[in-house]
Amino acid sequence: MNDIRTLSVTGRAEAAVAPDLVNVELTLTRRGPDYEACVAASSADADSLTAAVLALGFDETDLKTRSYQVDTDYEDRQENGVWRRVFAGYRVTRELRLGFSLDAERLGRVLQALAESPVHPECRLSYAAINAEKIGEKLRAEAVRDAFEKAETLAHAAGLALGSVIRIDAHGGSGAPRKFAVNAMRAFDEAKISAGTPEDLTFSDSVDVTFTMVKPEAAEDFIALVKRSRSFRGYDESRKITREELISFVDCARFAPSSVNRQPFQYVLACEQADLDKIQPLTGWARALPDKRLPYPGKRPTAFIVIAQNTDWEPDTSRFLKDVGIVAQTMLLAAAAKGLGGIMIGNFSPEKLSAALDLPANLRPMLIVAFGRPDEKIVLTEVSPGGSLDYYRDENDVHYVPKRRLEDIIL
Ligand SMILES: Cc1cc2nc3c(=O)[nH]c(=O)nc-3n(C[C@H](O)[C@H](O)[C@H](O)COP(=O)(O)O)c2cc1C
Repeated sequence: MNDIRTLSVTGRAEAAVAPDLVNVELTLTRRGPDYEACVAASSADADSLTAAVLALGFDETDLKTRSYQVDTDYEDRQENGVWRRVFAGYRVTRELRLGFSLDAERLGRVLQALAESPVHPECRLSYAAINAEKIGEKLRAEAVRDAFEKAETLAHAAGLALGSVIRIDAHGGSGAPRKFAVNAMRAFDEAKISAGTPEDLTFSDSVDVTFTMVKPEAAEDFIALVKRSRSFRGYDESRKITREELISFVDCARFAPSSVNRQPFQYVLACEQADLDKIQPLTGWARALPDKRLPYPGKRPTAFIVIAQNTDWEPDTSRFLKDVGIVAQTMLLAAAAKGLGGIMIGNFSPEKLSAALDLPANLRPMLIVAFGRPDEKIVLTEVSPGGSLDYYRDENDVHYVPKRRLEDIIL
C-alpha cells in the first residue's frame, strides 16, 4: 500500500510598483464605400500622426503599428418595409502604439498634440513597469518561499515534518498594464489628471507546491545525511543486506553525473556468503592504522558492490576515475539514507579480484564499495592547518576523522 502522505499548499506573493512606462495606444478608423479611397485615407492618417509625433521629438521607431485590418462594412436598411443587411463599404482599422518612459510633461504634450490632430485617433493609455519580467521572477521566488513557510507551519501543526517537494505548479503571474481610455477631444484634460501620479501597478503570482510529509525523526537535512555517511570499518553481521537493497543503491547511482555521459560502469553485486568470502580477503582496510586488523572478526560488511568499467564501452579507464568516485559516494548516501553504511575500498588488486569473481576480460574492477549496518562509533573533528589528517582511534576504539576547517579550504 502506498502510504506516502502529501501536502499541497498555494504560495502567493504581491508587489505594488510605481509605473515607469507609458504606452499611448491609438486606433485610427476609416470607413467608406470605396476600398482604395479608404486605404489611402488610412495611410494619410497614419502619416499625419507620425508627423505629429516626430514634431514632438520622438523617433519614427517609437511609434509602432500593432495591427492593420480591412473589413467589409454592412448596415441595416429598410426597403419596402423589410429590414435587410446591405453592403456599405469598407472599414480600415490601424492600431499604433507610442511607448516611452513615463514623464508627465511629455505625456501632456503628446495628448495635446493628439487632441489637436485632424485625424482624431481613439486613444487609450496604459502604464507598465520597465523591469516587469524581473519583478515577475522575484515574485515567483517569493511565492515559492511563501509555500514553504505555509507548508512548514501546517506540517508542524499535524505533528509531521516536510519531506521533499514532489510537484510545483506555477500559475503565471499577473501584472497586467493598467489601462484607461481617453477621449481624444478631452485628452488634454484627462492627461492633466493621469499625468499627475499614476496609481501603482499591482503584480501578483502564485504557485502550488506539493510536499511529502514524513515523521519528524525521518526528516533529516542533507548535510546531516552526508555527515552521518562515514567510512565504516565495523558492521553488525546479523544484518544481512539483500540483493534488492544493492540494486536500489545502483538504481540511485545511475542518475549521477558522468563525463560526456558515457556511464561506462557495470556493477557486480555480492551479498551471498560465498561471494563475500571471496572478496573480503582481497580488500585492504585502514592503512593509517597498521596495528589494527580491521574489520574485526564478526564485524565484517555483509555486502559488496564492485564498480567495474566495461572496457568494450570505454577502453580508457584513467578517463573515468572521477566518475567512479561520484557513483560510489551516491551509493553510500543511498545506503546512509536507509540507516545503513559502507566504505569505499581502493586498496585491492583488480587482477586478483577479477580472477576470484571470474569476471570477463572487458570488466575492469575500479573500486569496491562495502555495505552493512554500521556497528562502530565515528567522530568527525576539525583540524587546523599543519595538523595531522590521519584518522585515529582511542582506547575504546572510537574512530576519529579529522576534517579541514571550512575557512582553510575556501579561497
Ligand atoms: C577512493 C577512496 C578509496 C578508499 N579506499 C580505502 C581502502 O582501501 N581502505 C580503507 O580502509 N579505506 C578506504 N577509503 C576510506 C578513507 O580512508 C576515508 O574516506 C577517510 O579516512 C575519511 O573518512 P570518512 O570517509 O569517514 O570521512 C577510501 C576512500 C576513498 C574516497
